[in-house]
Formats: sequence, structure tokens, C-alpha cells
Amino acid sequence: MTEAATAVETLRLAGDTLELLDQRRLPLAVEWVRCNGAADSAEAIRAMVVRGAPAIGVTAAYGIALEAQRLAASAEEFGSRLEAAFAVLAASRPTAVNLFWALDRMRRVWNETGAAAPAAVAERLLAAAKAVHAEDVAANRALGEHGAALLPDGARVLTHCNAGALATAGHGTALGVVRSAVAAGKRISVIAGETRPFLQGARLTAWELQAEGIPVTLITDSMSGHLMARGEIDAVIVGADRVAANGDVANKIGTYMVAVLARNHGIPFYVACPLATIDHAVAEGSAIPIEERAPEEVTGFGGTQWAPAGVAARHPAFDITPAALVTALVTEVGVVTHPDARKLSALPGKASS
Ligand code: MRU
Repeated sequence: MTEAATAVETLRLAGDTLELLDQRRLPLAVEWVRCNGAADSAEAIRAMVVRGAPAIGVTAAYGIALEAQRLAASAEEFGSRLEAAFAVLAASRPTAVNLFWALDRMRRVWNETGAAAPAAVAERLLAAAKAVHAEDVAANRALGEHGAALLPDGARVLTHCNAGALATAGHGTALGVVRSAVAAGKRISVIAGETRPFLQGARLTAWELQAEGIPVTLITDSMSGHLMARGEIDAVIVGADRVAANGDVANKIGTYMVAVLARNHGIPFYVACPLATIDHAVAEGSAIPIEERAPEEVTGFGGTQWAPAGVAARHPAFDITPAALVTALVTEVGVVTHPDARKLSALPGKASS
């Protein structure tokens, strides 16, 4: 089992089972969902048991590895069934590129096994999934260190959605920067936007920061402009689901609004993500697929409906923040100020994309 990086554990391997902290139930209940293959891992991603770009990628890698183990037991039609597992996972959610990055990586490992027996292939895939898991924690720790230098002592930091330990295999990206700054002795407080409609800020960011004793104040999304205008926010830091080759950022719906406000008030707007989140194959943000979720998540929540029955509603789950609004991109290999196509193409990973 890979060692947990923080007090908050998002996913863990227990024997031949992947255990996922059920993020639909937080903070009211701490429950685990168990997955043993590709179909249940894909369903957990689709249903938001596990969410956040890096955590989705790690889950997909384990989904393939566990499916290969299951299939190796009978060895019948191993190749075609494993192929189907890749398809079911790829169809789970469209925006976070880490999902496709992890599946590509698992496919490369599979290809390298050549004519090996199914059991040997399954072994290699499990080792690869464990590596994806461990590398995510390491990347977050590294980017946390780089990003921490950007935050002054006493900074009041606005974040949107949850880009914390819960969105990754551990430590977090945006909240990883906060954690690393706190570990370095800085007094940092977080202002968490609630993140309508799925409430990742209110339910998840508030919960995981509270669990670690990092000061957090919850606001509704509509309050951030007011606080910025009053000088109560020193920096904004968010995660990303996919960064286009030109530096445009897809992240949780509402991020773009915060970035525009930050620019208007001269507040730095930072994006923290591992290199796996940069999609060099997509030239600009407008080409990133945006997940459209059920309108019922807008007209109500958790069994309560507040909008009139039958009203039309929209639920695009992500938006695009143009690169021009990004003060810096924080990655595990360093900080890219004012990211653009030239700077991103010089980052490691471009050649293998
Ligand atoms: O719909 P979600 O909860 O999966 O969206 C998550 C986000 O938008 C995060 O900010 C992003 O994945 C970065 S997580 C380190």
C-alpha cells in the first residue's frame, strides 16, 4: 500500500481492491467505496465518488490494473476484454486530461509486455498503477514547495473548488501549495468559495483544511469580488483539469469569473497542477471538451429541490480561463510565470505527449 501523504486519505489499495473515500457523502459521513475492476472504477469516477483530475487519473490506472488481474485469472479473451476496460474508463468523464494521460501510460506498459502471459501483464500493470499513484504524491509535494515561495507570510488565499488531497493521491495541488507554505512556517489562511453547484469548496476544501487545522473561511461564490474590493484577499490559487498548449486553463465552473475579478483588483492568480495536466495536443482552451452535467444538480441538491419543477437549467461543469489572466503556473518542475505556448512547449513531457 502506498503511504498516505496527508491526514486526509483519498484512495488506497487493499489487496486486490481499490478503496475510494466516498466524496459524495463528505463531510457528513466518512465511507469507503470498493472497486475491483474497470467497470466499478469508471462508475465511481462518473458518479463523483472520486473526483479531481489527478485522483481520477490514479483511479483509472488502478481500474486497468485490477481489471487485468481479474481477467488473468481465467485468461480467456484477455486482450479484447482489457481493451474494453480502457474504453469504459475513457468514457467516464471528458474534461480532466489526467484520466487519458493515465490510460495512455497504462497502454504503453501493456504494449511493452509483448507476448507475455496475462498474469505477467497484470503484474506489470499493477506496478505501473502503483507508480502513477506514488508519482502523483511526489509531484504535488514538489509543486507545493515551488508554489509556497509565491505566498507571503500572512497571506489570505482564495481557492475555488477542491484542489486538495481529496482531488489527488495526496497533498493536493492548490492546497498542496498552501500545505507546503504552512509547513515552511508561514501563517496562511484560506478563503474557500463554496463552488456551486456541487459544493466541492463547502463540503471538501473546508473539511480537509479543518482536519489539518489550517484556518479556513467559507464564502459563497458571489462574495469573492466584495472581499477583493475590500483588500481581504492577497492571492488566488486554483487547480486545473486540463491546460492547453497555449496556457489556457480548464478548471471548475466559476474559475474564470474569479480570474477576471483577480485581474481587476491586481491580485495574483496562480494555477497549480502537475505536468500530467498539460495537454500539448490541444492548442487552446476553446478545444477542451467541457463536461455538461445533469441540470438537476443546479435545480437542487441532496434530495432538496429549490427551483420550480420543469424549469430549464444548464450545468457546464468547467470553464476556460485564458492564459492571459494567469499570473503563474506552478508545476513540479518549477513556476512558469505568464504561461504561453513557447514556455509550455519547453516543459518536460512535451515529447512523450
Ligand atoms: O468536478 P470535479 O470535482 O472533478 O472538478 C475538480 C476541479 O475542477 C479541480 O479544481 C481540478 O480537478 C484540479 S484537482 C487537483
